[in-house]
Amino acid sequence: MYTDPFQGHGVICEMKFAFVGKGGSGKSTISALFVKYLEKSNRNTLVVDADINMNLAGLLDVLIEPGKFLSHPDVARALRSYFRGTNRRIKDVSQYLPTTPAGTGSNLVKSVEDPELARLGSTVSKDPLIRLLTVGTYDAKGIGETCYHSHLFVAENLLSHTLSDSEFHVVCDMVAGTDAFAYSMHLQFDGIFLIAEPSPESVEVCKLYLDLAKESGVADLVHVVGNKIQDQEDLEYVVKAIGKELLQWFPALPALKKARQQGRPIDCLMIDQAMDERLSSIEAAGLNPRLSNQERVRLLEKLHLKLNGKQWVQSGYGDVSGQIDPYFQFPALQGTGTRG
Ligand SMILES: Nc1ncnc2c1ncn2[C@@H]1O[C@H](COP(=O)(O)OP(=O)(O)OP(=O)(O)O)[C@@H](O)[C@H]1O
Ligand SMILES: [Mg+2]
Repeated sequence: MYTDPFQGHGVICEMKFAFVGKGGSGKSTISALFVKYLEKSNRNTLVVDADINMNLAGLLDVLIEPGKFLSHPDVARALRSYFRGTNRRIKDVSQYLPTTPAGTGSNLVKSVEDPELARLGSTVSKDPLIRLLTVGTYDAKGIGETCYHSHLFVAENLLSHTLSDSEFHVVCDMVAGTDAFAYSMHLQFDGIFLIAEPSPESVEVCKLYLDLAKESGVADLVHVVGNKIQDQEDLEYVVKAIGKELLQWFPALPALKKARQQGRPIDCLMIDQAMDERLSSIEAAGLNPRLSNQERVRLLEKLHLKLNGKQWVQSGYGDVSGQIDPYFQFPALQGTGTRG
């Protein structure tokens, strides 16, 4: 349980959840089930599909328009211009690195009703309000010359300029494997749910993810979640192979498999009482992070300074160390997710 080192200084308890793990382990399925659980639990939610293979729209039964992909150059530029606001530490919107932190004058997204997001999102549910944003995939023009990590930069900017709380959740379905460590994706969440299938390939990815999380200072935010578990042996295999207790596990669900084969999306009816309990333990883990958002921001700043030392940053962006604002603090929000 996270204890507040900044007592009385408005330390924020945020609610940003990421689902990570090997390809095919069930990240999108559990993300979609979690979104449906949040819908049933009446939580306004911003959902971000950060995977190059965009599956969430289909699972949540909404349409997405390529012109609204976050990585579309016009969209990315408009979003950064909004985030920049009157922050004079950012000379130009073209200077946003994935690690560029919010500072004095930056606009922060504090609600899923934020008009900048409303025009980009697909509505999953109106009451509570749940919107899906999609980072996007390669287009024909980008073949051979695009790196998915650079597509993710704008999602990293969005996450570091969003202030969630217990009334406003952020859920992100991530790209497979350990790609989150390429830049700052691994530093953007309060709960990172590492999906583990009972297979050697899946547990290997989990072990690597946990090692990298430890190196980066976010190990305490990572929770292992078993998926497609068929029996006690599967459960024991995952725990033993990874060497960490599971926060939760999901059984192999033949009804879900059939529904997907028939082209049906994930719906609230799939959240029976047992499923509700499994998903609520995920929400509870996110609500009690062992690292405050200020501590995460410090890690982000450290990474920003590391990037600033890279040749490609120096030549493409110049010295960006001045983007860090030592006087900036996230404003305290009203609501049960606010500490201090
Ligand atoms: N608990 C489960 N029971 C039955 N089928 C499941 C379960 N979890 C996931 N699946 C199925 O496993 C397949 C892979 O799941 P999913 O697409 O969610 O994985 P992913 O980790 O998001 O994959 P990718 O890395 O390709 O994005 C899907 O066909 C999904 O319906
Ligand atoms: Mg997926």
